[in-house]
Amino acid sequence: MNNTKKLFIKTYGCQMNVYDSERMSEALGADGYEKTDSPDEADMILLNTCHIREKAAEKIYSELGRYKELKASKPELKIGVAGCVAQAEGEEIIKRQPLVDLVVGPQSYQNIAGLAAKAVDGTKQIDINFPKEDKFTLLKGARSAQRGPSAFLTVQEGCDKFCAFCVVPYTRGAESSRPVLQVVDEAKHLVDSGVREITLLGQNVNAYHGAGSDGKEWSLAKLIWELDKVDGLARIRFTTSHPNDMTDDLIEAHGTCKKLMPYLHLPVQSGSNRILKRMNRSHDAESYISLISKIREARPDILISGDFIVGFPEETDKDFYETISLIKNIEYGQAFSFKYSTRPGTPAAERDQVCEEVKTARLYELQDLIKKQQKNIQDKMIGRNVQVLFDRKGRFNNQLVGKSEYLHAVNVTDPTIAVGELKNVYITKSNTNSLSGSILNYCSINNKC
Ligand code: SAH
Ligand code: SF4
Ligand code: F3S
Repeated sequence: MNNTKKLFIKTYGCQMNVYDSERMSEALGADGYEKTDSPDEADMILLNTCHIREKAAEKIYSELGRYKELKASKPELKIGVAGCVAQAEGEEIIKRQPLVDLVVGPQSYQNIAGLAAKAVDGTKQIDINFPKEDKFTLLKGARSAQRGPSAFLTVQEGCDKFCAFCVVPYTRGAESSRPVLQVVDEAKHLVDSGVREITLLGQNVNAYHGAGSDGKEWSLAKLIWELDKVDGLARIRFTTSHPNDMTDDLIEAHGTCKKLMPYLHLPVQSGSNRILKRMNRSHDAESYISLISKIREARPDILISGDFIVGFPEETDKDFYETISLIKNIEYGQAFSFKYSTRPGTPAAERDQVCEEVKTARLYELQDLIKKQQKNIQDKMIGRNVQVLFDRKGRFNNQLVGKSEYLHAVNVTDPTIAVGELKNVYITKSNTNSLSGSILNYCSINNKC
């Protein structure tokens, strides 16, 4: 008889949720759950949710509604809600959608298997505590052996910055960092299972201050240099950073650490000092611009990415055009932009709101500019030799897709390459959202490596 239970897990929101979903699957795996891609086959459906904007949170309820019939036809099916909506709304979720059996917040995932077992026994489970003990030490289940060449590794969680628009400090709790040794051990384990690129994650990853082997607090730069020593690890990335925590040692590492990739996601949110102040961002447009110059001095080819919010309460046209002018000044290789979304319980929710039409028009204008900058920077890659880590098969025969150092997607059609390989590629074409190129088997474009 087959006793394996099936788990369908769906992930929303940021990369930290992707990492958490992996850890929860592994913990439930140790308890006999096997992952499935089909909710119809599942014994447990787990939604790992995001609360950052209203739409993200509301999506969860429409998704839950879709499982009504399935649950009616299969009463033994258990449905769980994890992640930031779980943390923010707790038992309200079960009140609003009674088919939910389990609600678990991000700081309680070490309890996931126990909670799932109790839910199977028929009682509703809610765990949204912020326990003192270290979740990562307690999370059971081996890091899965089957994975691609790139992996996420959460090193820092939570946020103490309380930007006026943001739910993260409430859903993820106070800032905390994992000890250096724990991170390095996990990185080595990932490398042993075939990983060549690790992206260090944190809601404020550059505020990392984990305990080092000398008992002192180590900075993110120091952690990166420790990971640089891991044989077999070819690439290190980190995200998401806050401008105020961009320390000199980290900037310097961008210039000197070969494994650290030339890509930096550094959200500014707005180019208006008045709005930045109202956002409680504690940096201004000028300090951000000079920070980027300093980073570019250390690593001239670094690709800069950012986040923007348009239509923050009280934002005028003048404020908005200051954001546009900052974007023109920086030249982004990539950016994510959002209409401000009112989040209950955050200070900005109580202020004068900008109307939807204005938000939409500003978003389009900003995104048009970003798209042009992005394409311009991508087009400049034509004729360059980049290194690509191939991570998946493409749509066409013998085509593989990978990421360059700058995080551009690169397609290559060549029967000699395999997923997981890191190859020199000569870029021949810039498409809408990707580059195409051909493998360089020897480094002889103009006799330069
Ligand atoms: N810690 C990161 C951001 C994490 S949230 C930082 O400080 O930059 C990811 C992005 O979501 C933010 O950068 C912001 O642009 C966006 N965001 C957060 N709250 C939002 C809200 N209420 N409305 C619209 N966008 C929001
Ligand atoms: Fe949110 Fe980032 Fe601000 Fe923290 S620093 S409150 S995560 S936007
Ligand atoms: Fe969303 Fe929570 Fe990440 S609110 S962006 S899933 S930290």
